Amino acid sequence: MSIVYRETEKTFTLHTRNSSYQMKVDEQGRLLHTYYGSKSDSSDLSYLIAYGDRGFSGNPHELGRVNRRYSLDTLPQEYSCFGTGDYRVSALRVQNADGSQAASLVYSGFAIEEGKYGLPGLPAVYDNGGEADTLRVTLVDQANGLQVDLLYGVFEAADIITRAVLITNQGAADVVLQKAASLNLDWQAGQFDLISFHGRHAMERNFQKSRLSHGVASIGSVRGASSHHHNPFAILCEPGTGETRGSSYGFAFVYSGEFLLESEKDQMDQTRLVLGIHPDNFSWTLAAGEIFTTPEAVMTFSDGGWGGVSRNFHAILRHNVCRGEWKDKRRPVLINNWEGTYFDFDGDKLAAIAQDAAELGVELFVMDDGWFGKRDDDNSGLGDWYPNETKLGCTLKELGEKITGLGMQFGIWFEPECISEDSDLYRAHPDWAVQIPGRPPVLSRNQLILDFSRADVQDYLIERLSAVLASAPVSYVKWDFNRSISDKFSQALPAGRQGEMAHRFVLGLYRVLESLLQKFPHILFEGCSGGGGRFDAGMLYYTPQIWTSDNTDAIERLQIQYGTSFAYPVSAMGAHVSAVPNHQTGRVTSLATRAAVAMAGTFGYELDINLMTAAEKREVRMQIERFKELYELIQRGNYYRLASPLEGSCTVWQMAAVDRSAALVTAVYHHVEANPRPVYVKLQGLEAEADYKLSLLSSSEEGREELGTVSGLALMRGGWRIPEAGGDYWALQILAERLD
Ligand code: DGJ
Repeated sequence: MSIVYRETEKTFTLHTRNSSYQMKVDEQGRLLHTYYGSKSDSSDLSYLIAYGDRGFSGNPHELGRVNRRYSLDTLPQEYSCFGTGDYRVSALRVQNADGSQAASLVYSGFAIEEGKYGLPGLPAVYDNGGEADTLRVTLVDQANGLQVDLLYGVFEAADIITRAVLITNQGAADVVLQKAASLNLDWQAGQFDLISFHGRHAMERNFQKSRLSHGVASIGSVRGASSHHHNPFAILCEPGTGETRGSSYGFAFVYSGEFLLESEKDQMDQTRLVLGIHPDNFSWTLAAGEIFTTPEAVMTFSDGGWGGVSRNFHAILRHNVCRGEWKDKRRPVLINNWEGTYFDFDGDKLAAIAQDAAELGVELFVMDDGWFGKRDDDNSGLGDWYPNETKLGCTLKELGEKITGLGMQFGIWFEPECISEDSDLYRAHPDWAVQIPGRPPVLSRNQLILDFSRADVQDYLIERLSAVLASAPVSYVKWDFNRSISDKFSQALPAGRQGEMAHRFVLGLYRVLESLLQKFPHILFEGCSGGGGRFDAGMLYYTPQIWTSDNTDAIERLQIQYGTSFAYPVSAMGAHVSAVPNHQTGRVTSLATRAAVAMAGTFGYELDINLMTAAEKREVRMQIERFKELYELIQRGNYYRLASPLEGSCTVWQMAAVDRSAALVTAVYHHVEANPRPVYVKLQGLEAEADYKLSLLSSSEEGREELGTVSGLALMRGGWRIPEAGGDYWALQILAERLD
């Protein structure tokens, strides 16, 4: 059992393969955090906690006169409360019936169960059978009657611990939750760097590392979605940590809405991390007997650097978050018409693209925005989910059958959470749009938000989208969301409950997605939000792949995919080859480079293939064959970042088969040098004693150039010298195959 409770010491120790986590109930009945880090035994580590004169920090009333060494303001706590003597950032803030903002929790009991807890209505990491155990620790606030159940899911082999919190009002009066975080983690010692991933539309998840110093540092979103701007994922690591060494903690939030990740270094040089729903747009009235469930947070620890953290997350997201038929099935190579045609298409034009694509080995044709309602630009039509048969020149069924008749699958685009003012749906239901009475709502891409917090809106969308999906042979849906939510207000909620709207919106989104997945289990859903504006572990529970960015420039993608790879696996990252000059940057790169970069994702094309030359088409055919041949290695292998796009001249990454039988190294010169300095990388994840045959896969032609045979140990210790650049943005792939 991965969870050890020791009655004499009142300690709970959670053990994973390489880490241990401990909390302890102290003599005051407080649940203190004692340790999280490299694997230890179950010894009581509370001797690490420092008690000194804490008179100026404040002491609990029952102790103040006799023991000024005990202060909630300096003790490491498992779940901290606002308003009762801990002045640091806190996990729980409530407003009681008398208006006071105070909570104070003491231990009341625990339960240990086999298997992993679930969270109704919310995405959560799940147990495939025998992989996890659950610890539930119950705390109570005797003054207001709140019961707080801290849930821990321990995935021992995966080195993962999940956390969520249930808050139950056992009192008689309403309590308003103003902040209910999913995770609180206190370290008594250590200095940390915070690594987070910031961005903007078309440039998401840029790597940023900053030293935590005294005070509060935070990242978050108040945009209704997890956002382009900060990803709900972060790493805390000791200074000096890199890809392969150093102690690193990773934290991901399994939630697609507003979030806040705060860290505070306090007066004693201790560090606290709090992660949960962003409190700015949140307040939740909990009536007597009601339960509030927080979303889930996931943590991992690795003393093998950032790479260890990333691979732990890749594995848990692929095996225990992504679900359904498409979790393990080979995903189709697709072509999407967005950058090929934008809104300017009809059924014949799409069918002609599909025809050429099918001949080259593409397996799925995706019809993007513009097929429904009155939608020839982005100013109208959202909400009118009825095929525009005049524009298509046929019914959706007929178009779908034309595509499937080519031996391809057929997919379509939706943006269900948005509505255009110029739409029949808006004219019929203006109250369904999110806006505050008496204030003109903010427009973004000239559209409004549909109020997904309302059950009637959710029901309507489930019914309408189901009708479309049932009417044609659709095997793929791209689920887009192209703006942030502002003017948060729901006409279906009373004034005192408007603070619930943002979270109810996300619950509504999850309900609609879940219903559609249940009804259409064979459909592959791809998430999207103006590119990668909602790329999070919550969405991966419903959509096993997500469009990574509207930026398809191969060189900018190096950075975007690099940042994304810190948390998310290759199998989740939508990546396409698009036309040059690139539509976002104007940059020209070779077809080979564009394909090498897109192969670090789900792989597809997004251009008008009819405009390609015969030579380009031959190259596309070869790329698709190569991707299919290397699919297992690319999509299911272990992923290693060997050289960063933020330094040097060449970005290099590697996929290694789990059984170590092969590895694929991809290198892209992002900046060519005169009189170039050689680029060396050390491979990882190979079998030390085995020999590997190395071949250079020509980036634009079939065939391979043999590079020799080298032992796994030599490749991992000595490394390999990447061949010199053949020009700016030059890409190459090297295959290492084990000789058995
Ligand atoms: C934003 C997406 O990221 C694009 O791929 C495309 O689907 C457009 N929306 C369509 O409006």
